[in-house]
Amino acid sequence: MKTNYPTIHPNVKGFMHGGDYNPDQWLRYPEIIQEDYRLMKLAKSNTFSLNIFGWSAVEPEEGVYQFDWLDDIMENLAEQGSHVILATPSGARPAWLSQQYPEVLRVEQNRKRNLHGLRHNHCFTSPVYREKTRKLNRILAERYADHPALIMWHVSNEYGGECHCDMCQEAFREWLKNKYKNDLDALNHAWWTGFWSHTITDFGQIESPAQHGEYQIHAHNLDWKRFVTDQTIDFYRNEIEPLRELTPEIKITTNFMGNYPRMGPYLGLNYDQFAKEVDVVSWDSYPAWHGDYQEAWELAADVGFVHDLFRSLKGGQPFLVMECTPSLVNWHKVNKPKRPGMHLLSSMQSVAHGADSILYFQWRKGRGASEKFHGAVVDHVGNENNRVFREVAEVGDVLSRLRDVVGATTSPEVAIIYDWENQWAIDDAQALNVDNKKYLEACQSQYRAFWKRGVPVDIISMEKDFSNYKLLIAPMLYMIRPGVAERIEEFVANGGTFVATYWSGIVNENDLCFLGGFPGPLRQVLGIWAEEIDTLYENETKTSTFSSSHHLGLEGTYTAKDYCELIHPEGAQVLAEYQEDFYSGMPSLTVNQYGEGEAYYIASRNEDNFHEEFYQKIIDQLKLSSSFQEQLPEGVNAQVRTNGEQDFVFLMNFNDTRQVIKVPENVSYYDMISEKEITETIDFNPYQVYVFKKDK
Ligand code: GLA
Ligand code: ZN
Repeated sequence: MKTNYPTIHPNVKGFMHGGDYNPDQWLRYPEIIQEDYRLMKLAKSNTFSLNIFGWSAVEPEEGVYQFDWLDDIMENLAEQGSHVILATPSGARPAWLSQQYPEVLRVEQNRKRNLHGLRHNHCFTSPVYREKTRKLNRILAERYADHPALIMWHVSNEYGGECHCDMCQEAFREWLKNKYKNDLDALNHAWWTGFWSHTITDFGQIESPAQHGEYQIHAHNLDWKRFVTDQTIDFYRNEIEPLRELTPEIKITTNFMGNYPRMGPYLGLNYDQFAKEVDVVSWDSYPAWHGDYQEAWELAADVGFVHDLFRSLKGGQPFLVMECTPSLVNWHKVNKPKRPGMHLLSSMQSVAHGADSILYFQWRKGRGASEKFHGAVVDHVGNENNRVFREVAEVGDVLSRLRDVVGATTSPEVAIIYDWENQWAIDDAQALNVDNKKYLEACQSQYRAFWKRGVPVDIISMEKDFSNYKLLIAPMLYMIRPGVAERIEEFVANGGTFVATYWSGIVNENDLCFLGGFPGPLRQVLGIWAEEIDTLYENETKTSTFSSSHHLGLEGTYTAKDYCELIHPEGAQVLAEYQEDFYSGMPSLTVNQYGEGEAYYIASRNEDNFHEEFYQKIIDQLKLSSSFQEQLPEGVNAQVRTNGEQDFVFLMNFNDTRQVIKVPENVSYYDMISEKEITETIDFNPYQVYVFKKDK
């Protein structure tokens, strides 16, 4: 397996540190731009993303171009040895474009066209918008292809949302004709349109889902979401065509998003598909640290899950943090600055999970408009004499000491399946506790058990290759697309350990229920049949007791919440049984021997201590390696990156209290941050990080 990746450009020798730089907002203030260059050095930054929202600055009138300002900035950045990530500015269009070509503006689900304004407000089908963006991108590529500062393309900004205009409707119909090979009968079957007399007799009858129209045909909703992803990718392909042609050596990315306040990935696009189109994955990470509803370490575990997901999108290739804030944002419910130390800690966490950059939104706070109070490296005071600036410079300093880590990766033995289409289908289902299905949380609660032990995990879609893992966990694998069950069977038959949970194997790729018994195509490998599921009220719980004799040696009872599925063993061994209600005595945890491997079924949604105990046994049984061998205090996390020759172990204290780990006799660790040998105890201040380097 690959362990050491090259940097994204030969000129990039270490971590990229810097971020979105918007001098186009400051052209009236040349002295401030001059001052930026001085401050950039002091902030130990080396990489800047330019032109993200620069369209009206580079093309103030249709066909009239003005690149002097960008030439100057690129030149000056090159001179001081900084790198430039150059953006294509399609994320927001100039007013003249909307005025001249209103069709570029997005139409909402209610079929009303938006006015000019905001950003990310374009139609991804519009031929005019496609032509204008491609043309401008060609000019940018021609002009800057050989520029010494250029290291990467940043295409558009946070693609997202959908358009319901007539052109998009037509494109959707074409997409469907292509998918169903013009066969309306196939579409009617897949969409189950006999329901409520919804049979389609002409493709022209199909519209995108809408609240005032059709939205309860689940396969229709799914196909629309798939179309939105495909159409966005198609728009992106149109954008990058001139870049690929004129700058074939320059890597391309587009910044993906997270989801908040529950920390997860953005759900509007299937990034598993999109990731295939970019050279490097990058994302914008904005966890709400210091919230009053979650401990910092709990949030850290969820953030870790998302970092691991982005790393796994391209099979372990390091990713980029394209945006984060050095202090606060302006759009959380409560906008709290990072406490002292949290900026370094959260930056190190990104790096620990595979990031090769720490880039900010943004370099300098704007004077006006909606983001004027969003955190930035340079505040309105305009100098370096403040806490946030000092903490940024510290991150720059530490990154330069960690240079050897760049390109190193992690090769976990454990994978958790998290799948966008599965999430869409679960969210859409009118079943269970409608607002408490919590698929993402179900994945993250299993993940936490590994995070606490410092056992590395990949987060993958159901399309990925399973064969390199020892343990594959698929929480709530409600949808099973063709071929997936067969690959799971093969994985287990070859000696893999598989864990599935309640509400798995319910529907196929069109959201049609499997007939003949759940968990559908997983029934054989799991050796069970799931007959019913009980949904519990918020304050309702059920207990289960482990059976006395089984190979995992688990004892006592554990508590279920939310869901208890009622299952029957069909060859599987029962490891625990429900103790209450009409299903008292029925199995709640089973294991099935299948070929050389084992397949577990967790029939209920359980409290965290179940996951901790259960997975500890599995970790021991499979001898899964952990990033750090000593016991970790609660809230201290370990992650590892390796380049094949050296391991880099990150130890991170997410507590705002001191923590101590005893070091065994005759053992010492070299810490790359303090550049010291650590013996006897690893002593953590609140939020402190260590990075130990050791030869393999
Ligand atoms: C997003 C955008 C940025 C900026 C930040 C603010 O990530 O890409 O332009 O608006 O949010 O947090
Ligand atoms: Zn449209």
